[in-house]
Amino acid sequence: MSETGHSVQGGFPPKDAKGGGRGPDRQLADDRGGHRARTPETALDSAPGTASALVEPAMGKEWLRRYSNSVLGVFGAPQRVLVRGAGCLVWDADGKQYLDLLGGIAVNALGHAHPFVTSVISSQLATLGHVSNFFTSPTQVALAERLLQLAGAPDGSKVFFANSGTEAVEAAFKLARRNSTPKRSRILALEGGFHGRTMGALALTSKQAYRESFEPLPGGVEHLPFDDVEALEAAVDESVAAVVLEPIQGEAGVRPLRASYLQRARELTTQARALLILDEVQTGVGRTGRWFAHQGSGITPDAMTLAKGLGGGFPVGALITFGPDVSGLLTAGQHGTTFGGNPVATAAALATLHALEAGAVLQNANDVGAFLREHLAAVGGVVDVRGDGLLIGFDLDGEYAAAAVQEALTQGFIINAPTPLTLRLAPPLILTRSEAQGFLDALPAILTTAKERPA
Ligand SMILES: Cc1ncc(COP(=O)(O)O)c(C=O)c1O
Repeated sequence: MSETGHSVQGGFPPKDAKGGGRGPDRQLADDRGGHRARTPETALDSAPGTASALVEPAMGKEWLRRYSNSVLGVFGAPQRVLVRGAGCLVWDADGKQYLDLLGGIAVNALGHAHPFVTSVISSQLATLGHVSNFFTSPTQVALAERLLQLAGAPDGSKVFFANSGTEAVEAAFKLARRNSTPKRSRILALEGGFHGRTMGALALTSKQAYRESFEPLPGGVEHLPFDDVEALEAAVDESVAAVVLEPIQGEAGVRPLRASYLQRARELTTQARALLILDEVQTGVGRTGRWFAHQGSGITPDAMTLAKGLGGGFPVGALITFGPDVSGLLTAGQHGTTFGGNPVATAAALATLHALEAGAVLQNANDVGAFLREHLAAVGGVVDVRGDGLLIGFDLDGEYAAAAVQEALTQGFIINAPTPLTLRLAPPLILTRSEAQGFLDALPAILTTAKERPA
């Protein structure tokens, strides 16, 4: 067992976890009816189980019928019913195989069913699953330390753990409010920005269609034109509490901010004593071939939000606050969560970071990403290719991206259309060149068919 007591470095479960020594804890467990003498016993106490054994098999169509009768319709009709994954491949309920070039929207950094991540999660769950934030656990502390190290955060920096991107952004929003005074109350975000669906994150999100049914949203947020340095210079002064930016706008179609824009934003916010908050929920954790996308511009933010790829498919989000002053803005009792930072989620994230590093996966994201971008640019019908690492957007010569998604599914590829004109790839960072080549080979026919038969 490692000193930190988690399985990332192997040796889990601890040697004395099952029927071992008779320390006071073991004695207490036995006396109170611990797992060796639990009453009442249930038939399942020692039975191994699988979720599929709890669910009768059915064909895709039948699942979709039952879905529409039981699951709230906020996502529309699902495209397929997926039952299994391995690496970059997934299979649907009817047995069809797909190359997953979307990775659960930039989540499955190590693909599906990664053996190391899976075993760390299962062993952590079998050891200690949840404790509440009245307590901490070795994996929580170790993950916070590792994230601070990867982010190059100075002494006094801290991490708050959440369960999703939008919750990480909510925490960042509260941080911005804590930097506010009656004279310093404006929060600046960008047109095209997407930060999540909860009320604070929605206030930062610019898309009217997402916002309008839920107004009034938390106030004080202004949206500036994208990547427009002059507009930023005109807007940032001592009345601004925070500027919130995505280094690459994923949902708007993979639109990168220029490094010079991020650098100017850093200068202006420092001068005005406003917080520079970077939303790296989609771009963080190796997605762009760097641990965090902003590291390409050489700046250090005041705060950064993470989620998506962090848990390798397990839900976990984080807010990193840089330096003691920013970290001191949120104090005991001012924010919280029941699940955030739980042992299983933090073990999943530690395992993901460990496997990304051990497998030189960021280098792979750079190599395969560059290969894809170069060859996509040469495909007929593709007019612009953007992105970094394995977050790639490419524009088509017409508004038939939705039809291309449908045709790609028919041909066995999962991709996505963030705009009517744009296709996005955010595959597992372990995607191989030959898998990428398989998609490049199929793409011309996919686009030709989609253009002829728009969805
Ligand atoms: C940049 C960014 N921020 C926040 C979110 C919200 O994350 P979640 O869907 O986990 O709440 C997203 C989701 O797409 C995102 O791309």
